[in-house]
Amino acid sequence: MDRIVKVGIIGCGGIANGKHMPSLKTIPNVRMVAFCDIIIEKAQKAAKDYGTPDAKVYTDYKELLADPEIEVVHVLTPNREHADISIDALYAGKHVMCEKPMAKSAADAHRMLEAAKKTGKKLTIGYQHRQKEQSRYAKQYIDSGALGEIYYANCYAIRRRGTPNWGVFLNEEEQGGGPIIDIATHSLDLTLYLMNNYEPAMVIGKTHKKLEHPEAGNIWGDNGVSTTPLEEAACAMIVMKNGATIMLETSWALNTDEPIAEGSCRLCGSKAGLSIKNDRLTVNKVEYGKPVVTDVDVSVGGVAFYSGAQASPAVTEAHNWIRSVIEDTDPVVLPEQACVVSDILEAIYTSSRTGKPVYFD
Ligand SMILES: NC(=O)c1ccc[n+]([C@@H]2O[C@H](COP(=O)([O-])OP(=O)(O)OC[C@H]3O[C@@H](n4cnc5c(N)ncnc54)[C@H](O)[C@@H]3O)[C@@H](O)[C@H]2O)c1
Repeated sequence: MDRIVKVGIIGCGGIANGKHMPSLKTIPNVRMVAFCDIIIEKAQKAAKDYGTPDAKVYTDYKELLADPEIEVVHVLTPNREHADISIDALYAGKHVMCEKPMAKSAADAHRMLEAAKKTGKKLTIGYQHRQKEQSRYAKQYIDSGALGEIYYANCYAIRRRGTPNWGVFLNEEEQGGGPIIDIATHSLDLTLYLMNNYEPAMVIGKTHKKLEHPEAGNIWGDNGVSTTPLEEAACAMIVMKNGATIMLETSWALNTDEPIAEGSCRLCGSKAGLSIKNDRLTVNKVEYGKPVVTDVDVSVGGVAFYSGAQASPAVTEAHNWIRSVIEDTDPVVLPEQACVVSDILEAIYTSSRTGKPVYFD
């Protein structure tokens, strides 16, 4: 991996500073050469903190895309902008890492997929939960056939009082919805990936907004939480074409005694089961006539002077992504897969609105 990859960042807000720019900075081959944000000060600060000494700063992303030296673009704006910016970037000849969810609507996600196919450029989505050690172990375990046929799954992203209230998270026009599109998207992506099943047949879902005081106890305070029209919680049943069922539960705010972080799921197979819950990974089966639950320790550890700390999922995601560009291989998250996630999420909203199941062809 000797070759230098020049990267442009579009959207220099929370996820750019919290995940992408620090992770890209750990890759010796990467140079962050351009930064764009509609708020110029954010782009300037990002350039100063993470850019090359001559990094360019823009407020119009199309000017950034016009630079032929930029090979890779990260699209880190609110959901509404994902599709148009990613599509323009693909047609400008860039490989694109776009934050999750793939798009605000399923139609937009399909437009992105079509653009990736037409241009032959790489498009991936920032589903970093796939890159956790727990998920990587689970993927190998499942691909070995140890679970048998996975026919029943739960998919969790349940917060007790965790409604994000900065930026545009409470703006339906910008984001497209609440916890379904914001956090259940991570868990559903991980569940489908581990099941290796991308063929939904039917979705039935229901959203809820019932709390008398949704702002009370919110970990980030009120700041709009009490007035947002977005759903607080939702559940859904997803039936796959092979008969497998996925029960999805999600909330930003819910009176529950068991919050379960996004990126959690439970997979029940014909031979054994596996669960990733709040980062605890267990495998269960029956041995010698008795039920057995095994905790899988994914940390290295055990040596007094060596912490055994693993790279964060964000860093692993960035390294795998840039490697796929350099080696011209498929990224870990394929746009075809992320598109199915968007199809199902939209079906949950549609089913809740119409009171009817949504069937897929
Ligand atoms: N992977 C994760 O776990 C994770 C976590 C948080 C957010 N996200 C996703 O990241 C995206 C951004 O979220 P955030 O928390 O960083 O929001 P944010 O509001 O903090 O940052 C978004 C930035 O984009 C800028 N922007 C808006 N329109 C633009 C445009 N047309 N051109 C250039 N810049 C533009 C805004 O000024 C802002 O600085 C969302 O899609 C969100 O779902 C992912």
